[in-house]
Amino acid sequence: MQRPNTKSYFLKTFGCQMNVYDSERMTEALVRDGYRETDDVANADLVILNTCHIREKAGEKVYSDLGRIRDMKDVRKRNGKNTVIAVAGCVAQAEGHEITTRQPAVDLVIGPQSYHRLPELIARTENTRERIVETEFPGEEKFERLKAPRRVSSPSAFLTVQEGCDKFCTFCVVPYTRGAEFSRSAATIETEARELIAAGAKELVLLGQNVNAYHGEGPSGRSIGLAELIRRLADIDGVERIRYMTSHPRDMDDELIAAHADVPQLMPFLHLPVQSGSDRMLAAMNRKHSAAEYIDLIARIRTARPDIALSSDFIVGFPGETDADAEETLALVRAVGFAQAFSFKYSPRPGTPASSLETQVPEEVKSERLQRLQALLDAQQAEFNAQSLGGTVPVLFERRGRQPGEFVGRTPYLQLIHTAADGDLVGRTAEVAVTEVRRLSLTGVIAAA
Ligand code: SAH
Ligand code: SF4
Ligand code: F3S
Repeated sequence: MQRPNTKSYFLKTFGCQMNVYDSERMTEALVRDGYRETDDVANADLVILNTCHIREKAGEKVYSDLGRIRDMKDVRKRNGKNTVIAVAGCVAQAEGHEITTRQPAVDLVIGPQSYHRLPELIARTENTRERIVETEFPGEEKFERLKAPRRVSSPSAFLTVQEGCDKFCTFCVVPYTRGAEFSRSAATIETEARELIAAGAKELVLLGQNVNAYHGEGPSGRSIGLAELIRRLADIDGVERIRYMTSHPRDMDDELIAAHADVPQLMPFLHLPVQSGSDRMLAAMNRKHSAAEYIDLIARIRTARPDIALSSDFIVGFPGETDADAEETLALVRAVGFAQAFSFKYSPRPGTPASSLETQVPEEVKSERLQRLQALLDAQQAEFNAQSLGGTVPVLFERRGRQPGEFVGRTPYLQLIHTAADGDLVGRTAEVAVTEVRRLSLTGVIAAA
C-alpha cells in the first residue's frame, strides 16, 4: 500500500555497481513506504550514504560528507525538523560502532546484508531517537524480503545474482564487508529479469563480487553455473543484451567461455581483473593463478569469441613489489592488449593480511609505476577505439546527452558512443556508423534503425 508522499530522502552512492544496485533496491522500498527522492540534501528528512571501503580515500570521503550533513541536521533541528542520517554499505559493515563514535549525528548504521530491515529500522530510530548499528550476516535472500516493484532508470539494468567472496585476496576488504559467497536461485533471478524487461530494460548486467562463481539453485533443485543462468535469461523475451561482472580468472570455466561463442545476446566484453603480471606478487596477493595461466585463459576466450573486448583491474605498489615485478605487469598488458582497464595504487586496508606487511612501497614509487601503467593502458584503449573508426556497430541508447538532440549509448564492446538524432532513441538499438574516435568515447551517425 502506498502512503502519501510526506517525507523526502537523499541517497548518495559510492563504490561499485553492487552498491548502485543495492541503492536502487533501497530506493524502491522507500518509495513504496511513501518517501520521495530529493537531490536537495539540506532539506531531506532522511539522508543515506551507501558507502565503499575498498581504498582508504573512499572511506575517508564518507566522514567529510558526514561532517557537512551533521551541520545541515543542526540547522534543520533549530527549525524544528528532524533528520535521520543513515550509513549503509561496506564502511558500515567494516566500521560499525566506530562510525557513530566518530560522527555521533549518525542515527543508523546498516551493513549490506541487512537492507531488508531498512524500513523497520528507520521507523524505529525515528520513533525512539535511538542509535542503531545493524551489521549481522543473516544469510537469507535480503532482496526477496525487501519486496517492492522493480523500476528501471536506464535500458541497461543491474541485476545482482551473487554476493560475497570466499577468495580472500590479501589486499581486499570485500570478504569481510560482503561476507561469504551466496548465489540467488535461478527462479528469483528470472522473475526479477522479467520485471525489469516489463519495466523497460533491454540489457541485463548480472552483478556479483565474484559473479562467475555463481552456483545458484536451478530447476529441480540442482545447482547451475553462470553459463546456464545466462542461457536461461537469454531465452526470456525482450532480453536483447546480457553482460556480467566482476569475474575471477579462477572461475572462468569452459561452459562460460562456450557461452561467449554461442549466446548471441551475451556481449563481447569481459572484465577479468588480473591485478599484476608478476607471479611473485600474484602469489603474495593470494590470487591463485599465474600470469601465464591468465594469458592462456585469454587465448582460450579469444578462440571462442575473437572480437571480445577485454578489461581488467590492476594494483601497483603491493607490498614487496620491485621494479622488475612492475615491468612484468607491463609485459602482461602488452601480451594481452586491453580495450579498457582500471588501475589503482595499493591502499593498505585495516584487518587485511597485506596491510601489516613491512615491505610497504613508498607513495612516490607507487605514483610513478601507476603513471607508466596508465600510459600503456591508455594507449591500448586509444588503439582499440581507433579500430572502430569507419565501421558500423549496433548501439543500445541508454540516455540523452548534454547537447539537445544528442543520445548516448554503448557499443557491444561497452564503448560509450554519442549520436545526434531526431525523436527519442532511449531504449532503442540502432546501427551507428562511427565517424569520430576519442580515447574515452566514440561519435557516430545513425546508419539504420
Ligand atoms: N571482485 C572483484 C573486484 C573487487 S574490488 C575482483 O575480484 O577483482 C575492485 C578492484 O579494486 C579490485 O579488482 C582491485 O584491483 C582493487 N582493489 C581492491 N582492494 C584494493 C586495495 N586494498 N588497494 C588498491 N586497490 C584495491
Ligand atoms: Fe576482493 Fe579478491 Fe574477492 Fe575480488 S576475488 S572481491 S579482489 S578478495
Ligand atoms: Fe566498495 Fe563494497 Fe563495492 S568495498 S567496491 S562498495 S563491494
